[in-house]
Amino acid sequence: MLRRTAPLALVAALAVAAACATRSEEPVPAPLDGRRSALLEMRGGASDAAHRIFATGETRGFIGPCGCEEKQFGGVARRGSYLASVAEDADLLIDLGNAAAGSDPLRSHRLTTTLRALGEMGYDAFVPGRLDLAVLDLLVATDTRGTPPVICANLVRSDGSRPFAASIEWAGTRVIGVTEEGTDVAGGRVTPAADAVRALLVDGSPAIVAAAMSRSAATALAAELDGVAIVVASGAATDDRSLMSVGDVDPADDGFVPAVRPLALAGEFAAYVRRVDLDDALRPVDTWRSWLGEDVPDDPQMSALYDAYRERSADLDPDLIPDILVGLTARGFVGSSTCRTCHTDDHATWADSLHSHGMKTLVDRGRDRDAECVPCHLVDVDANDPLSLDRVGELGIGCEACHGGRAQHVEAAQAGLIEDDTPIGAPPYGATEVCTGCHKPPEVKSFDLDIQWPRIEHGD
Ligand code: HEC
Ligand code: HEC
Ligand code: HEC
Ligand code: HEC
Repeated sequence: MLRRTAPLALVAALAVAAACATRSEEPVPAPLDGRRSALLEMRGGASDAAHRIFATGETRGFIGPCGCEEKQFGGVARRGSYLASVAEDADLLIDLGNAAAGSDPLRSHRLTTTLRALGEMGYDAFVPGRLDLAVLDLLVATDTRGTPPVICANLVRSDGSRPFAASIEWAGTRVIGVTEEGTDVAGGRVTPAADAVRALLVDGSPAIVAAAMSRSAATALAAELDGVAIVVASGAATDDRSLMSVGDVDPADDGFVPAVRPLALAGEFAAYVRRVDLDDALRPVDTWRSWLGEDVPDDPQMSALYDAYRERSADLDPDLIPDILVGLTARGFVGSSTCRTCHTDDHATWADSLHSHGMKTLVDRGRDRDAECVPCHLVDVDANDPLSLDRVGELGIGCEACHGGRAQHVEAAQAGLIEDDTPIGAPPYGATEVCTGCHKPPEVKSFDLDIQWPRIEHGD
């Protein structure tokens, strides 16, 4: 637990740092104390608010910056030191779900690591999102020592029982967890969130609703609820210093709903922490989005947890690369060097681009077997031996990553069946989707075809 007992936490943190130092030559991160006041200053400062909420969500496996571009936000190491500096015992720390991104075994590894990290940071609760409920059995079976309680009022099993508690008590009020409707759950179902909340508001005291929900779903929920102090949801916000008041919603965006409730959005990929200050009556008095940028130092304890996570993810799935190669071959991939014979200039342009050595980038960083990285950086096969593992480290994002498997095209061309004017399927001209399958958040913040295409331009 990082917050609450600052002096002890610092001792523990230094002990971890010392252990790391003996294991490797890595520089020991500076202790946080000296930077504490600077952080406080930067992140809105201490406050005399009666109550404070710190909310994150949508981590989606972004447990640390991948390095795909500079100046990435987020990661548990920065979040740990931010919370250690700013959050106190009495504050509510809550995570609004969607930690379990991807497919197994990476997905489970991400979920359990995220829950452990939340536990070590002293979170009070985790509300499961759509992605987490896809692995409900794992979530139920997760070792609960050291992980925060999972709360969800609108999830019931087929036999009518609830797998998780509906709420926790905080600051004399109830914090009710709800998840997005329309989520498929094996062996259970998600009931209407507003009904589930109302059923818990019987004694007339105000409540806080913590929703693992998109902005539009949370907006609709907030509009429906009376007797609720504030809805905190995982959707991405557009503003640092204001909450959404449900009546202010742009009609073109979410559809107009009458003003009733304040709504705080915790954003995607835990790139920032949403902080809300409340008065005695739980009315919001101020809010910040505290961005977890490079100016926030890494917390040693969380860095150690992230290192352990990476160490495991590097060899989590021994079949990762064979499975990728088999999959590409099944889609008709024959490898970029097959194309060189006939498309010499295009091949030369490609060979000069970063796409051609996507795997070398990972080899250089020791992450060329990591299920977190390989799927975007390896989309090609060796032309001579497509299923061979020998030269995988030299491959990258091949021609067929964008043009699709071309086995049939090559056969036809070799048989002389293709003339210049043969209609053989248009290339993906101007189709940004071809690129944004990989050039997408959180790895890459934004993508502009007009800037990026000229860097790899080829064809007529
Ligand atoms: C969703 C797809 C995706 C995943 C997953 C991914 N990357 Fe990337 N990576 C990219 C893209 C796209 C770029 C190019 C960004 C740019 O410059 O516009 C890139 C660039 C990079 C670069 C910079 C390369 C250079 O030559 O400057 C590094 C380093 C990198 N990735 C490492 C990683 C690591 C390590 C992981 C796993 C933790 C990873 N990537 C996972 C898509 C991905
Ligand atoms: C044996 C020669 C040959 C080989 C090998 C070959 N092509 Fe072609 N390709 C052609 C010819 C001929 C055309 C039609 C004329 C043109 O546009 O150059 C063509 C056209 C294309 C086009 C434009 C039209 C379309 O279908 O979209 C693309 C893209 C293309 N090839 C991609 C590839 C890729 C990728 C590979 C490697 C997997 C490849 N080709 C291998 C001969 C070849
Ligand atoms: C299969 C995933 C994938 C697809 C599809 C993809 N890219 Fe990339 N792209 C990457 C990766 C990964 C890198 C970084 C490679 C490295 O350096 O390791 C990258 C790097 C680049 C770079 C170099 C970045 C720089 O700043 O120098 C450009 C430019 C680029 N991509 C443009 C595009 C465009 C345009 C498209 C669509 C037509 C596209 N990419 C489609 C994965 C992809
Ligand atoms: C990052 C995605 C990407 C990669 C990798 C890529 N291409 Fe393309 N290619 C495109 C796009 C997009 C176009 C369409 C551009 C246009 O029409 O202006 C194109 C156009 C072409 C054309 C011209 C089609 C025409 O009708 O003019 C050929 C031929 C071609 N590519 C071959 C290749 C070959 C061969 C490779 C590998 C050596 C390759 N491409 C790698 C995205 C890619």
